[in-house]
Amino acid sequence: MMPATAHVLQKRPFRLDESAGFSDSSSWCGGNPVTTQLLNAYTILVPGGEHFIIRTCKMYLSRLEPELREELERVFFQEASHSREHQRVLEAMRANGLSLEIFRKLVEWLSYHLLEPLTPLKLRLATAAAIEHHNAVIATFFLNQEMLRGVRSGELRRLFVWHFAEEIEHKETVFKVLQSISRSWLVRILGLFLSFTTFLCYLAIGALLLLFKTRAVLTRDFWVEVLNPEPIRKGLFAALVKESLRYLRPKFCPSAEESRPLLTSALAELRHLGVEGPKREVRPSPRVLPPKFRTKMTRTLTRCHGLQKRHEFFFSCIDKYDGAWIHTGGERKLNFCTYSYLGLLHHEQIDEAAKSALERHGTGTHGVRLLGGNLEIHEQLESSIAAFFQREAAITFSSGFMANLAVIGTLVGKGDYIFSDELNHASIVDGCRTSGAEVVKFRHNDAADLDAKLSSLPNGVRSMIIVDAVYSMDGDVAPLRKLIEVRDRHLNTILMVDEAHSVGVLGTRGRGIEEHFDCVGQIDVLMGTLSKTIPCQGGYIVGSQELIDYLRYKARGFIFSAALSPVTAAAAQAALKVIENEGEARRTQLMANVHYFVGRLQEEGFDTGDTETAIVPVVLRSEALAFEMAKQCNLEGIYVMPVIYPAVTKGTERLRMNVTYDHRREDLDYAVRAMVRARTNVKGRHG
Ligand SMILES: Cc1ncc(COP(=O)(O)O)c(C=O)c1O
Repeated sequence: MMPATAHVLQKRPFRLDESAGFSDSSSWCGGNPVTTQLLNAYTILVPGGEHFIIRTCKMYLSRLEPELREELERVFFQEASHSREHQRVLEAMRANGLSLEIFRKLVEWLSYHLLEPLTPLKLRLATAAAIEHHNAVIATFFLNQEMLRGVRSGELRRLFVWHFAEEIEHKETVFKVLQSISRSWLVRILGLFLSFTTFLCYLAIGALLLLFKTRAVLTRDFWVEVLNPEPIRKGLFAALVKESLRYLRPKFCPSAEESRPLLTSALAELRHLGVEGPKREVRPSPRVLPPKFRTKMTRTLTRCHGLQKRHEFFFSCIDKYDGAWIHTGGERKLNFCTYSYLGLLHHEQIDEAAKSALERHGTGTHGVRLLGGNLEIHEQLESSIAAFFQREAAITFSSGFMANLAVIGTLVGKGDYIFSDELNHASIVDGCRTSGAEVVKFRHNDAADLDAKLSSLPNGVRSMIIVDAVYSMDGDVAPLRKLIEVRDRHLNTILMVDEAHSVGVLGTRGRGIEEHFDCVGQIDVLMGTLSKTIPCQGGYIVGSQELIDYLRYKARGFIFSAALSPVTAAAAQAALKVIENEGEARRTQLMANVHYFVGRLQEEGFDTGDTETAIVPVVLRSEALAFEMAKQCNLEGIYVMPVIYPAVTKGTERLRMNVTYDHRREDLDYAVRAMVRARTNVKGRHG
């Protein structure tokens, strides 16, 4: 059974409420003086101290067992995340003139620039472990004594309770590292000594803060508390001495188990503090929708709320992209939910092009292309897209979804027929529905079924075959050559292919499905998006000049919708150049990653379907399992989403993992290990 509380915080990030203000100086000196003194000192010194622990332990990462290494990596990320929140508080203190900047810099310089480089590596590690141990003692003291009650601001209180609860959790991990690297007594004792010195610095800096800035040291209350032996001797110092002696015992290695009750109550308090939330601004009460509309929405909303509860990671906010990793909710996770297959998001040349377009044109246009919104950059982009696919012309739309919706209904309508692969993307499905044409679905990737269905059509009707080039939930590829043969057997039939997931991925130079099957120029309507390998936004159609001219004057989704933002257009154009120059090398690396990842997953017994591309399904065949696996993976630091009905048919629920050029071998190995652990956990729960 998983321990209920051990290391729970290590898996969750801490974040202060964005709107929490700390401008009131009573936040810093409002509580009981000793508490205030220590907590202020913590805020001032924590960022440097956290980084010392991270720096030190990182040096040993490559020598640790994989499990401990992963545990430690989680600690690093979490230490960094709460140190960042302390920084926010520190900035507010600076603004209040309360940060003792010079003294702090002096302590930092002495500790991290002078002493640290002079200290042997193992001693640094022993010091880090001892600091974590002492911090945990102080944390226990505060949590037990309820001295934190003196902290007035709810957010500060939340920060410290969280921080202290973390300290209790962390020491176990850092100790494990120390145990696995060194068992020398001398090193341990010296580490303990250095940690004590650090602790005295904390006290001194806190006292100075009070003396110089708040004058609380001059108040009677402070001295009563300092001179009265009760809280201090019985509490903090006694605890520190007792725990330091324990530390000297042979084989001492603390475990989170012993602090379980304390942690449990800290977590309960955190929950309580979280519930309070920030003060909301009072808004006028809005009109409620009429009952008939609310009834219509009830079923969906109930399902959605249920889904959100089962998988809190839907709609999670991403703070930052960092190669193959993302920062979300204060955590760093390995990203498998990206369409940037070639890793072009944040490519320097693309970002530069976007910046100069922004400077030149601003963020938008004055409207639709036909009536005043047409910029040179739009025309250049369309020429570049056409040239990239070696075709006559191209037209862009505000999104890939819009391109499908607008174009299908412009090319076929009432009295016409559409033959649509049963697994086509939702935008194709909706385009077919709204076109008014008769829609016939054919079996997935089954050209014979398509042929048979087309053969039953009355003579002389217009028909359109529509397929995805790469299927977005399965990663398999449409059999283009066979589809072309079928199209050619039937008069008045055209072929439309959605290239959303094939550009950059298929074809020797990443030019998509036509290049892959060596039949450039054969698709009548080639549709694609600017939102996947091309890391922007928008959709396009490529084809003959005649077709594109027709769409420019007829497709309502083009005529009546605003032009692409110049920033997007310039970035997309730059992206095409990058693919031109670097596409081959990036694609080769991407496909090597895909083969490696799929191979490793299959070795571990995962079902990866028929994928041939960067979209790797992990088919689980149950909604409950998909949710549980996705949750466990996210807790393991793997950013992955469950895919359920209606995105896939019932009984084929899965995780969808998109591999990219940016993933390194270690990342993929890390992901597979995490998924195996996640599966074990899920099995443990579901039997
Ligand atoms: C196959 C396919 N076509 C079209 C689209 C819509 O593209 P966009 O996101 O640019 O609107 C998507 C989006 O995921 C897709 O997967």
